[in-house]
Amino acid sequence: MRVGQGGTGPGAHTRDGSAVELYEVTPAHGEDEVIDAAIDPHSSILELGCGVGRITRPLLARGHHVVAVDESPEMLARVTGTETICSTIDELRLDRRFDVVLMMSFLINVADDAERLRLLRTCAHHVRPGGSVVLQQEIARHAPAVLEDEHRKLVIADVEDLPGGAQAATLTHIVNGRSWSQRIVTRYLSEDELTAQLAAAGLQLGGYLTPDRMWVRAHLS
Ligand SMILES: C[S@@+](CC[C@H](N)C(=O)[O-])C[C@H]1O[C@@H](n2cnc3c(N)ncnc32)[C@H](O)[C@@H]1O
Repeated sequence: MRVGQGGTGPGAHTRDGSAVELYEVTPAHGEDEVIDAAIDPHSSILELGCGVGRITRPLLARGHHVVAVDESPEMLARVTGTETICSTIDELRLDRRFDVVLMMSFLINVADDAERLRLLRTCAHHVRPGGSVVLQQEIARHAPAVLEDEHRKLVIADVEDLPGGAQAATLTHIVNGRSWSQRIVTRYLSEDELTAQLAAAGLQLGGYLTPDRMWVRAHLS
């Protein structure tokens, strides 16, 4: 089960419902700053679920070495200037370890516990001893909302509580008159749940990179 369950709107969509053309027109919102501040200069980074390279590009520009992984060939085709690997995250097993394994975009909030464990095991497999796994997680359960600035609008609607603590919601992004909707199913993790899930994958919670706890650092236990 993917974080996203299906998507509508112009252009190609990935298996999780992410719209390639939406990510092409979405700028970074400071994610690379948070990551860069938490890691050493010129780090080797394995980025899992890189999409079109929205954050790959600024990380490369900051001097890091990024290997970009995604299961979507349409997304990966937009990533330039670095090594790309087309693979699901859970099946990825490279014969290399990295200073940093980065898995953002709330992929850790996949509702299925077994799938989440597979994702975290891939993170543990590829981080070097002493290196960092950097994760971006949901910091609250979903609620209907409209978030707007002069360029774009995000509508969170049809929020539904599901068994086992999961939630479904429909996210609609409107950018320059074009609209993409994605139905997501996610599970917010308490700190105890996060700690337990990390431990099951051989990882330890190292701390938070931001006061809101959205950005998590873990390392090999
Ligand atoms: C919401 S997009 C975000 C892309 C990028 N991280 C960003 O912030 O711009 C999520 C991406 O993760 C990829 N993805 C989701 N689950 C995956 C999995 N299990 N294995 C490989 N790729 C996955 C999707 O194909 C999609 O390109």
